[in-house]
Amino acid sequence: MAIRFEVRRQNAGVVTNETFSMSSNLATLLREGTKKAHTMAENVGFVRCFLRGVVEKNSYRKLVANFYFVYSAMEEELERHKDHPVVSKIYFPELHRKHTLEQDLAYYYGANWRDQAAPSAAGKVYIDRIREVSNTQPELLVGHSYTRYLGDLSGGQILKGIAQRAMNLSDGEGTAFYEFQAIEDEKAFKAIYRESLDAIAVDEAMANQIVEEANDAFGLNMEMFKELEGNLVKAIGQMLFNTLTSRRRRGSTELATAE
Ligand code: HEM
Repeated sequence: MAIRFEVRRQNAGVVTNETFSMSSNLATLLREGTKKAHTMAENVGFVRCFLRGVVEKNSYRKLVANFYFVYSAMEEELERHKDHPVVSKIYFPELHRKHTLEQDLAYYYGANWRDQAAPSAAGKVYIDRIREVSNTQPELLVGHSYTRYLGDLSGGQILKGIAQRAMNLSDGEGTAFYEFQAIEDEKAFKAIYRESLDAIAVDEAMANQIVEEANDAFGLNMEMFKELEGNLVKAIGQMLFNTLTSRRRRGSTELATAE
């Protein structure tokens, strides 16, 4: 159980009582506090399509590009604050995804991917938020790290399988993002990450802010997915159109032959 204690602070004549705990239950607060956002993220059209194996390479590579810029920013800022009393607790370079995303971009865009890949409008908003938080309240980077890395550790292998089947990828093609080479057991690592969250000494107000930031991070992810829905709907429409017209063409040829 967490050991809680209260500190009376006097600042410029104002006395405040602040509650601290030796070990927070931040992991549970984050899980419970983002449940609704998680369900909402799972239900975005693009995500639902992905889970059903409807994945189109052009949309997917745009997502990979956005992830590349988002993770690059997040990992740069985590690195910058790696000695910060709060950020240091969840600083795990073995989780970092930037280099795996570079490999995937080289697969989807080719060797000159750096000339082609760019963050989308929603990607830019996400990146700006990471930079802002890092400059003003680095503790809130915990909410960003939690939202992405615990999600990645949870769904990795399943999502990799879906991507491979849907886009006909051979093993080792375009799915480096889902592989944590430096982590042997992802489930065990998740437990370590959660324990590290609990080892962060935060007061209630800060814990609430971190949960709020994690919810924002879910929202920023959803905006990136939603942007891709237009592409996907167009691609599905085109496929349907091709199927219908090729059938009609075949049908009319058959009719012509019969006559
Ligand atoms: C594709 C749809 C998704 C499915 C089916 C899914 C599924 C899951 C499952 C089953 C878990 C629980 C794993 C466990 O208890 O060990 C989990 C955890 C998690 N997911 Fe997702 N997820 C999805 C999308 C997302 C998205 C879009 C995000 C964030 C951008 C996300 C972030 C998380 C986080 C942070 C956790 C850890 C919860 C905790 O233990 O505190 N997930 N997910």
